[in-house]
Amino acid sequence: MIFPTTFLHLILLVESFLLFLCVRRLRDTGDFLLREQKLQLKASSTQKTSTDFAIPMIYVVTPTYTRPTQLPDLTRLANTLRLVPRIHWIVAEDRNTTTKPVADLLAASKLRFTHLAAERPHELIGKVIGRGVFNRRAALDWIRTYAEPSGVIYFADDDNSYDVRIFEEIRQTRVVAVFPVGLVLKFGISSPIVRQGTVIGFFDAFLGGRKFAMDMAGFSVSVKHLNSKPLATFPAAVSWLEEGFMRSLEVEKDDLEPKAESCTRVWVWHTRTEKAAEPKLQHLQGFHC
Ligand code: UGA
Ligand code: MN
Repeated sequence: MIFPTTFLHLILLVESFLLFLCVRRLRDTGDFLLREQKLQLKASSTQKTSTDFAIPMIYVVTPTYTRPTQLPDLTRLANTLRLVPRIHWIVAEDRNTTTKPVADLLAASKLRFTHLAAERPHELIGKVIGRGVFNRRAALDWIRTYAEPSGVIYFADDDNSYDVRIFEEIRQTRVVAVFPVGLVLKFGISSPIVRQGTVIGFFDAFLGGRKFAMDMAGFSVSVKHLNSKPLATFPAAVSWLEEGFMRSLEVEKDDLEPKAESCTRVWVWHTRTEKAAEPKLQHLQGFHC
């Protein structure tokens, strides 16, 4: 049977139209699936933020002072903190005003932060006895005024090294939590001694009559507990900062909460950055480009 050409053209036209409808349907289905996927992604990121709010904020207090290694030390710490959720970094400079290089570093870090500076009394400027005392006190004042009561405080010196796992231990602090610190003095470690889940003493190369022979990096305190002790503070006394602060928190040894797998893990180290020379313009003399 032979179809007239017009009829064949008609069939071709109908088929083309059907094909057009199919392509359009495919495109619409693709668009729909993409939109659905985007909505789901959005929902899961909102969900993440809302679970984030369910965990306590960690107020990381870092005293710091101007020196050639300050920015690299703070950069390293910022990079660590960026890996941890719900961190509020309180960087407190040991001087009368905040500095621009530190402010720029904080802004670039994208972390939630507060930048403070605290002046030492005139007679303590340049002395060992005032090191990191007044700036840590300024951070305590800020916390008492602004911190979320469900939060936790940790004193993180700028030159230490932190395994991110330590922050999840710290986050569980109810009153005062304690854990080992590596590379402290000649024993190479400072640690609470734990028996049947209770702290019964301290292993530290410097006992010196201390009731709480700990390093600054070896404990955390809940905001609620700090707020219940309005007189708690750091004494201006060499080698007595941790002891003085712990005593002022009015806790006993058996109140301390051992963390880091019952104090069997080292997830923070008291590393120290080697002193470095300061670049000066006079160093350029004799160099020609
Ligand atoms: C020793 C102890 O091991 C720490 O537990 C204690 O925090 C510290 O002393 C202290 O004196 O506060 P060390 O490594 O000798 O640690 O001290 P640094 O790292 O030089 O200073 C500790 C923190 O205080 C650092 O974050 C540092 O930037 C800051 N700091 C230091 C100041 O804010 N002002 C200063 O004049 C010196
Ligand atoms: Mn240090």
